[in-house]
Amino acid sequence: MDVRHETSEMKYDKFSGQVTRRTRLRVWFVRICFCILIWTLLVQLVTVGGLWHPNLLTRSLNRRNKYNMLSIEENVVQSTPSLPPARNYSSNGYLKVSCNGGLNQMRAAICDMVTVARLLNVTLIVPELDKTSFWADHSNFEDVFDVKHFIDSLRDEVRIVKRLPKKFVKIYGYQPLEMAPVSWSNEKYYLQRILPLFEKHKLIHFKKTDARLANNMIPLDLQKLRCRVNFQALRFTPQIEDLGHKLVHILRGKGSYIVLHLRYEMDMLAFSGCTHGCTKEEADKLKRLRYAFPRWREKDIVSEERRLQGQCPLTPEEASLVLVALDFDRETQIYIASGEIYGSERRLDQLRVSFPLIVKKETLLDHEDLQQFQNHSSQMAALDFIVSISSSVFIPTYDGNMAKIVEGHRRYLGFRKTLQLNRRKIVELIDLHKNNTLSWDEFSAALKSTHKKKVGEPSHRKVMKSKPKEEDYFYANPHECLCEKPRCINLSHAENVSKNY
Ligand SMILES: *[C@@H]1O[C@H](CO)[C@@H](O)[C@H](O)[C@H]1NC(C)=O
Ligand SMILES: *[C@@H]1O[C@H](CO)[C@@H](O)[C@H](O)[C@H]1NC(C)=O
Ligand SMILES: *[C@@H]1O[C@H](CO)[C@@H](O)[C@H](O)[C@H]1NC(C)=O
Ligand SMILES: *[C@@H]1O[C@H](CO)[C@@H](O)[C@H](O)[C@H]1NC(C)=O
Ligand SMILES: *[C@@H]1O[C@H](CO)[C@@H](O)[C@H](O)[C@H]1NC(C)=O
Ligand SMILES: *[C@@H]1O[C@H](CO)[C@@H](O)[C@H](O)[C@H]1NC(C)=O
Repeated sequence: MDVRHETSEMKYDKFSGQVTRRTRLRVWFVRICFCILIWTLLVQLVTVGGLWHPNLLTRSLNRRNKYNMLSIEENVVQSTPSLPPARNYSSNGYLKVSCNGGLNQMRAAICDMVTVARLLNVTLIVPELDKTSFWADHSNFEDVFDVKHFIDSLRDEVRIVKRLPKKFVKIYGYQPLEMAPVSWSNEKYYLQRILPLFEKHKLIHFKKTDARLANNMIPLDLQKLRCRVNFQALRFTPQIEDLGHKLVHILRGKGSYIVLHLRYEMDMLAFSGCTHGCTKEEADKLKRLRYAFPRWREKDIVSEERRLQGQCPLTPEEASLVLVALDFDRETQIYIASGEIYGSERRLDQLRVSFPLIVKKETLLDHEDLQQFQNHSSQMAALDFIVSISSSVFIPTYDGNMAKIVEGHRRYLGFRKTLQLNRRKIVELIDLHKNNTLSWDEFSAALKSTHKKKVGEPSHRKVMKSKPKEEDYFYANPHECLCEKPRCINLSHAENVSKNY
């Protein structure tokens, strides 16, 4: 807990060194005066003229209240220190990017693209979000992220504009160079191969953005910029932040809570071909979906083989066994972060037998609260993101982008626990327990020892030269931004992962 406070206090210093304690105090003083002023004005307006519709007033007051209820560190993230002066540089051209994938994959990509634009001294157009992925969300950048804050807070590094200048618009006959940069490239690739293209084309459109920058061997200032974008410049819209914090507040009102990221959703299962525990009908449906979706190239998959290799998300039943074996008790409040669980209530019931206090956004919020987000998978995922970074323990059942990026964010917020489940080992142990080779106690002991030191403690990323996919992902553990010595010398020893959560 001490560690956590230290990190939040040091946040600004780490990247810019500009905000000292005194300026923070001053900012607070000014803010409080401002609030009092606004309050007085509002009260006068209401009493004098009845100018304000009472509903409008209560609504805006609720909004203030919500912000006031946030914990200290969330307030630090919210506050805007006076903006840095804009960087004065001559731009080498314009970079347009179309992000691909779900919310968290795009989040990492946005951080990478800002960094590439900074490296090349080009002007970045506010990134386009993916509208053609499986869930077909039509949200634009400004529907998910606070676009003004994004542009302003990075202006000392890179120029970001909302729209392409008129001279480049297609109807004026301009054809940008469209391309996808090579995956996992380092800065030399961008300087030597991409920069010269800007001289010729002035506008380049990256059609894909996932994993275009390497995890390692990138100059420290660029690594730190990736962190700065991720942890400071990317903020969700006030609507999303408000509702996300409302969720956190409701949950904390009932005590501590853990988040289970149960990545047991239709797209995941169809894509991965994992059908363990599904009915024959469900398995067939998933298979048809896989064959129908053109982007999912790998068609022939043997589900059980995959599962034994640890490449399937845990099923709700498996997740339940794991949590019980790791000593999480019946009173544990579990927030399920995910879209719709495949097989829905039937599958969740298994989990509910052992953990009656299972909740989701849909059960915690009124329908009206969620309505505006419901048809937007990215906005729904953003709510889960906020709840997930604030929980006592975060437990992802699959190591996808959300799992990794939330893990990194939790490290940043003071090495909050993230259980990194070893799925290959888990299914092996479960099968041995199921066929009575391992007693419950043996099973439980083996699971605990497997996950002894896998809780997102301070550590360095695993580096595998020329095998980027097998390395630790930069955003899961951006140690350059977290691990100032001596903190990373002593690794924490997590004896009992469910204890003191
Ligand atoms: C930006 O830099 C250029 C060249 O160094 C200089 O001529 C110009 O006045 C600067 N502009 C601003 C706004 O500082
Ligand atoms: C970017 O601009 C800086 C000056 O602001 C200059 O030192 C650097 O060489 C430029 N880099 C490129 C790739 O243009
Ligand atoms: C969400 O989408 C469904 C189906 O496309 C539609 O019937 C419903 O009205 C939409 N809801 C909102 C709040 O837009
Ligand atoms: C239990 O399952 C494991 C592998 O899943 C197998 O090696 C072992 O022989 C089985 N034991 C019994 C008693 O069936
Ligand atoms: C690291 O561990 C050593 C030996 O256990 C201890 O003396 C030292 O205080 C620890 N340092 C930190 C920063 O925890
Ligand atoms: C872990 O916690 C359980 C229950 O709280 C306790 O019985 C057990 O002794 C603990 N194990 C260790 C190694 O601390």
